[in-house]
Amino acid sequence: MSIRINPSILSCDFADLRGQLALIADADMAHVDVMDNHFVPNLTFGPPVVERIRAVSPVPIDAHLMIDDADANAPVYAELGCESVTFHAEAAKAPVRLARELRRLGAKASIALKPATPVEPYLDMLGELDQVLIMTVEPGFGGQSFLDVCLPKIRRARQAISASGLDILLQVDGGISLQTIDRAVDAGANSLVAGSAVYGAESPAAAIGALRERAAA
Ligand code: DX5
Ligand code: ZN
Repeated sequence: MSIRINPSILSCDFADLRGQLALIADADMAHVDVMDNHFVPNLTFGPPVVERIRAVSPVPIDAHLMIDDADANAPVYAELGCESVTFHAEAAKAPVRLARELRRLGAKASIALKPATPVEPYLDMLGELDQVLIMTVEPGFGGQSFLDVCLPKIRRARQAISASGLDILLQVDGGISLQTIDRAVDAGANSLVAGSAVYGAESPAAAIGALRERAAA
């Protein structure tokens, strides 16, 4: 199983987005955290900035939307060309309809679950999804510690995805580093988001390489 590494630009220097994106040309995708100060207690950027990020990024965009009213707001990110759009289950009234809409607009459809949200209620919609994101920190901030309590949920999701035979990525986001990536991969994750572990390193490119190597070991 090939492992994807998607650096989160949340930990990059926002004054130099173009330059910071150029540093992760070896990554699989750029993970772009959109926060609205309502769904999470932090605020980043919205459609106009994401559109420019997409235009200058050397790799496709993995948009992670931590925003309320996903049903109305998530399709905008598919329309502006994000290759993958992740909405939060807790913020969507009609997740199946939303996932279908994202696909109709040409994006990969992905659902995210906060640490306390169970995965079981969403397993019967796997056929509508291209990715499931299990959060291993409370969403909102980079640099937090990986929550081991989420490991059984990652295993459960892996079991269901494998049993379905569908081509669905299992992404883990929060606290991924050289110290924790093994735990996520052993539990079945095949797409890893890393913010501070990549942009906090002296060489983001070397950090991506090291995470890849560790995940493959
Ligand atoms: C947190 C974001 C993450 C964050 C991860 O809410 O969704 O993508 O950037 O940062 P690290 O890897 O530092 O935990
Ligand atoms: Zn994220």
